[in-house]
Amino acid sequence: MIDNSLNTDLFSPTQMGAIQLANRIVMAPVTRSRMADDGVPNELHATYYAQRASAGLIIAEATNISAQGRGYAMTPGIWSEEQVAGWKKVTDAVHAAGGKIISQLWHVGRFSSVELQPDGAAPVAPSAIKAEGTTYTNNGRVDVSMPRALETSEIAGIIEQYKHAAENAKRAGFDGVEVHSANSYLLDQFLRDSTNHRTDQYGGSIENRTRLTLEVTEAVAAIWGSDRVGIRLSPVTPDAGNTPPDSNVMATYGYLIQQLNRFDLAYLHFVEGATATSRTVPEGVDLDALSAQFEGAFIGNNNYDLEMAVERRAQGKIDAVAFGRLFISNPDLVERLRRGAELTLAPRESYYGGGAKGYTDWPTAHY
Ligand SMILES: Cc1cc2nc3c(=O)[nH]c(=O)nc-3n(C[C@H](O)[C@H](O)[C@H](O)COP(=O)(O)O)c2cc1C
Repeated sequence: MIDNSLNTDLFSPTQMGAIQLANRIVMAPVTRSRMADDGVPNELHATYYAQRASAGLIIAEATNISAQGRGYAMTPGIWSEEQVAGWKKVTDAVHAAGGKIISQLWHVGRFSSVELQPDGAAPVAPSAIKAEGTTYTNNGRVDVSMPRALETSEIAGIIEQYKHAAENAKRAGFDGVEVHSANSYLLDQFLRDSTNHRTDQYGGSIENRTRLTLEVTEAVAAIWGSDRVGIRLSPVTPDAGNTPPDSNVMATYGYLIQQLNRFDLAYLHFVEGATATSRTVPEGVDLDALSAQFEGAFIGNNNYDLEMAVERRAQGKIDAVAFGRLFISNPDLVERLRRGAELTLAPRESYYGGGAKGYTDWPTAHY
């Protein structure tokens, strides 16, 4: 076997903000849709995350900040006391296994169905523009619903949802939180001119479209301390129906990143390319040039293998690498990469839904 540890510091400890990492290999947030309808994690989820605690940092699966923020059945929440207690079991198990875990704060915005919304209400969005695509409810796959545009006076309430969830994440024993401003969900919908047609202070100019992400980040950082807050962006990922990203990716996300520098966050996390699809970017976009504008730690993600991670780390393009799909089927991914051991690829059928099968039953390698 090859000893991959020789020419890289990916397997060495590092610090991101106030978070001490045993290595620079991060578990990317991966929705597994194995919660009951109440969105409360239990022993099964604690076992799953504890099995993966040798990651330098686990970013837990996207977690609904409110009932309104929910867009998929079987996903976890962090707005109720029961959910906080459930997550405490998870964070305790990860900490007992020597790991670090943070919560990814999620509001899906328009990407939901009336079947999933409280009282069957329309999902909320920056503008009343329907997404293409389907989601899962308890009755199976359905088209996402027509959203309604948030009133300006409702935005403060959205920020309150993030604050409430951030406070709950603290009580649940997480090591920090990640603001989910990626993958065409609520905050990303505000960032992009393809989904944000507002005419108030949250739409129009780049300053206005980035305002909500910045206000949410500031609010969450006030609760946690900015050195325990990270943010995830996916500047070029199209949404499920292939709505194009922003018409000026470099200007919009460049401005956002410069503004994020004000907060001295623990890290910036990019999905580089189209999420879980390709690393191709539209003409005129240079994601490395964007991430280089960030003054703190940078986590790269999307279709990495070890070789690419080692090379991009050596070039100073990333501070850490996040793996998503590989952590599904290789709970001991860090050790396997370090030893050059064989990796298992998870079949897509194991991604979402069900129980322990395809979830906690992936063996660790025999070295
Ligand atoms: C099954 C599955 C679930 C995912 N869930 C999330 C999620 O909850 N939050 C998120 O930001 N990204 C999510 N992603 C995207 C991953 O975090 C990651 O960006 C993507 O898989 C690319 O990384 P990889 O090539 O290492 O898998 C998910 C991807 C997959 C395949």
